[in-house]
Amino acid sequence: MNLQGRNFLKMKDFTAEEIMYLIDTAAELKEKKKNGTRHDDLRGKNIVLIFEKTSTRTRCSFEVAAFDLGMGVTYLDPACSQIGKKESIADSARVLGRMYDGIEYRGYGQEIVEELAKYAGVPVWNGLTNEAHPTQMIADMLTIREHLGKLAGLKFVYMGDARYNMANSLMVTCAKLGMHFVACTNAAYFPAEDLVEYAKAEAAKSGGSVMLTESVENGCRDADVVYTDVWVSMGEPEEVWEERIRALKDYQVNSRALSFAKDNVLFMHCLPAFHDLKTTIGKEIHEKFGLTEMEVTDEVFEGEHSVVFDEAENRMHTIKAVMYATMPR
Ligand code: CP
Ligand code: NVA
Repeated sequence: MNLQGRNFLKMKDFTAEEIMYLIDTAAELKEKKKNGTRHDDLRGKNIVLIFEKTSTRTRCSFEVAAFDLGMGVTYLDPACSQIGKKESIADSARVLGRMYDGIEYRGYGQEIVEELAKYAGVPVWNGLTNEAHPTQMIADMLTIREHLGKLAGLKFVYMGDARYNMANSLMVTCAKLGMHFVACTNAAYFPAEDLVEYAKAEAAKSGGSVMLTESVENGCRDADVVYTDVWVSMGEPEEVWEERIRALKDYQVNSRALSFAKDNVLFMHCLPAFHDLKTTIGKEIHEKFGLTEMEVTDEVFEGEHSVVFDEAENRMHTIKAVMYATMPR
């Protein structure tokens, strides 16, 4: 398997074998990190991280992974560069591609990261767009495999806003890897029809399946993994909260939802999560709408099924694998 020179923009671009190769590479690099074995094979390379939206995990993962691999890093925050404001994406890509060996981009429309990749001449890695969050997928699949020992054949249930980056990417990834993906949510929040059709076709080839349901009981029955994400994503206007809470409150991951699942079900969340009142937004929502927790209860988040911090740690090992595999030598 050779992915050198490839971009990492969305899961549709990768075969099941390529995805498994990235998961295996991440497991090997994680082992090296844990053993204290040096793996700074990319010494002399430099990368740039462009963030048009905020981040904790993704930024820190790219930085730590790059340092471990021996690379230099520049971070460009939403306010400090000319990108998109005074300089087009195509021009920015051609400038950065002359200086750096790889470019990470987190921002809004998927077409922006695709445009960046078209002109950069070096690998471009998608650190999240409105439509996709591919680096999160490798971390999530590694985490599931570490806990349950396999991926193909597992029932994976996504609850909440299934039209956005997380559910889109999870549906495609599960379908390619022979898993049984369920979007369990209000029908107004089911993934786009064309993506569902694509995922169903992939699942038909892999032995997996794709199901959409409004029933929590049917959706979560015998689930191996129950996953959720915030109800309102970065870049969405504040006004959508009210409607979102009304539409999605029945799809909170709580002990009732998990009661239908397998005894050893994993609870997963890409994070950050609203599971208590210890955040500014959590407090504001509490004052306006009276909710003390949102997409997941504190009980589940802190409970025995939750693997969210293993998942967060794996962001670093898997982002390292993506850079390691795609960087031309
Ligand atoms: N899961 C995730 O992408 O987290 P950040 O927004 O903190 O990078
Ligand atoms: N759907 C969320 C994911 C955060 C990692 C967002 O886009 O804000």
